[in-house]
Amino acid sequence: MPVVKVDLPQRAYQIHIGPDMLSRACQLMTDLELHGRALLLSNRKVYRLYGGRTRAVLEKHYSVYPYLIGDGERYKSLHTVEKVLRFLIRNRFERGDTIVALGGGVVGDLAGFAAAVYLRGVNFVQIPTTLLAQVDSSVGGKTAVNDPLGKNLIGSFYQPRLVLADTQTLRTLRQRELLSGLGEIVKYGFIADPQILQTLGKHRQTIAPELIARCCQIKAGIVRADETEKNKRAVLNFGHTIGHALETYTHYRFSHGEAIAIGALAAVYMSILRGHLKYSALDKIQKLYRRLGLPAHTGLRLSADKIYRIIQSDKKVADSRLRMVLLKDIGKPLICPVEYEEIVRALDII
Ligand code: NAD
Ligand code: GLY
Repeated sequence: MPVVKVDLPQRAYQIHIGPDMLSRACQLMTDLELHGRALLLSNRKVYRLYGGRTRAVLEKHYSVYPYLIGDGERYKSLHTVEKVLRFLIRNRFERGDTIVALGGGVVGDLAGFAAAVYLRGVNFVQIPTTLLAQVDSSVGGKTAVNDPLGKNLIGSFYQPRLVLADTQTLRTLRQRELLSGLGEIVKYGFIADPQILQTLGKHRQTIAPELIARCCQIKAGIVRADETEKNKRAVLNFGHTIGHALETYTHYRFSHGEAIAIGALAAVYMSILRGHLKYSALDKIQKLYRRLGLPAHTGLRLSADKIYRIIQSDKKVADSRLRMVLLKDIGKPLICPVEYEEIVRALDII
């Protein structure tokens, strides 16, 4: 089964991907000389599905303390982190102990942040159970919680010691969550590897471990080159500028991945208008989206002014100049300043 190495100096770690990875959790953690106690952080829904098994596997070597948070983005908050930290303090967790995140991106981002700040850093293991978390959020060390004034505004870069992506856990995902992950997989096709788009075109929604591994490999390469997003890592935001604005504009009518997929299409169109891509690229991508069940447009008459205002309050605006990721070609991203008029024209096709 595929193993991807995230080759960071002094903080290298492996991502193991495949069916039944849960049963290998204990072995792979002890191979890294992680001993002592394990806080098994999850939410009620995921724990009901996979908590018992994970706990039983970990208990072969660890004293396991389950800690469950509510399900949903609103629990990714400082308030929840505070409760987790208090639990760790009360139970006298030490620096050599480990926080294990079992769940999607919400659990993973929150658990990573708690691991980063408790005793200035304890061991952290990710067991991502959504497609989005397996191909994106569990890899690369971005941890965060939300503030009422904005998403992911409080966080740190803190790498896990190990990531275990058990592909069998994806079987219980709702279609909407699967599409959310597909939106991010398509993104890797646009920014790094056109072959991914071809594979998806042929096999539709069959998500092989090799495809997840390819996405992780791409992300690992980008993170290795720019761990703290000084420059190159920003290409991972392809589709996100307009995608995030759509999420806000429509009050989350689209899942994250759906919004990103539409945002990616807008960015492709902007790249066509600049003469980087042929018009036929748009047609091909719209066909691929239809095949995958991803939306190719919003079905709404979008107000350009409102979208632009939302984009400008986004954290990607530097020196009041809006920069976006466009494409020189499929697989070749370009970070560049963009004008208001280009956004207005792109909104025409979505
Ligand atoms: P999520 O964690 O909310 O999970 C989506 C839903 O699926 C939840 O209801 C969850 O309980 C459920 N679920 C999880 N695993 C399941 C399974 N195996 N079977 C059935 N249901 C399951 O959402 P997500 O899409 O995984 O992650 C979104 C979060 O990730 C956002 O907070 C976003 O900001 C963050 N994110 C972080 C990064 C990063 O680099 N750190 C990257 C992208 C997204
Ligand atoms: N998901 C974007 C990043 O990890 O940089």
